[in-house]
Amino acid sequence: MQKIAVIGAGTMGNGIAHVFAQYGFTVSLVDIDRSLLDKALQQIGKNLDRQVGKAVITEEQKKKALSLLTPFTDMAAGVAEADLVVEAATENTAIKLKIFSQLDELAPAGAILASNTSSISITRIAAATRRPEKVIGMHFMNPVPVMKLVEIINGYATAKAVTDTIAALTLKLGKTPCVAADYPGFIANRILMPMINEAICSLYENVADAPTIDTVMKLGMAHPMGPLQLADFIGLDVCLSILKVLHEGFGQPKYAPCPLLVNMVTAGKLGVKSGEGFYRY
Ligand code: CAA
Repeated sequence: MQKIAVIGAGTMGNGIAHVFAQYGFTVSLVDIDRSLLDKALQQIGKNLDRQVGKAVITEEQKKKALSLLTPFTDMAAGVAEADLVVEAATENTAIKLKIFSQLDELAPAGAILASNTSSISITRIAAATRRPEKVIGMHFMNPVPVMKLVEIINGYATAKAVTDTIAALTLKLGKTPCVAADYPGFIANRILMPMINEAICSLYENVADAPTIDTVMKLGMAHPMGPLQLADFIGLDVCLSILKVLHEGFGQPKYAPCPLLVNMVTAGKLGVKSGEGFYRY
């Protein structure tokens, strides 16, 4: 496992590419949008500089990491020699299914195809390919260079050898693998999103204002960010879409998205990326 292709140059894709290159893997970063690729390479450079500044890596290691990264706008060229493809495109089922059916055509027959999806069924994604035993979830957390978890999701058909390979690879990235079965929200979001939703409901019901709710969870539970600040950081549209997956998947009212969250997303208040959510940026 040496050649990695990462599909999608957004925040998660550039973080995943960064970490693989930092740990000595050859990385093809693929995106149809040339300007996004340029922005991603700049962002990776800045984040590597930050790590040099904190003495996490040396200037030499930074240069080596940058030399291992190649951008591609052509998916066929980007994945042609990949041992592993990690898809980190938009969190949209139709787009992911299309990408996986293309990857199945274009990547070497032996390549493992992983998705960084936060909530779409791996079994469903795998069914878009003719190699469902080689399809797996590899869910990184944001910011990828900092967060130590990779949630590994076994689809219905994922082969045990593939899970073992991906778990061993995760350790080589200095991260801890946690394996989950393919049910809505897996582990991370099944637990995180109801907490965020409850924080939003607390605000909606005027239990307290946003900074007070966040302060309780930061100081009382030692969370690095309060749930409302974290929701802004993740994106309120992403939170809403994951809650819908939980609500539909389990059919239980406890997962129903708070009406305030629905209203904010409808109004375009998506958090950090739109400049306003529970806070202004
Ligand atoms: N690349 C490299 N290093 C980075 C970085 C990046 N993109 N972002 C931050 N860092 C480093 C900083 O250099 C700093 O390093 P030191 O500890 O060595 O000083 C460290 O991370 C902390 O950064 P800051 O001092 O700038 O800021 P902070 O102390 O406020 O920490 C944070 C920022 C790490 C984001 C912290 O607030 C945190 O852990 N927040 C919670 C993050 C979280 O819960 N993520 C999961 C979201 S859910 C998800 O991703 C999955 C999903 O499906 C929705």
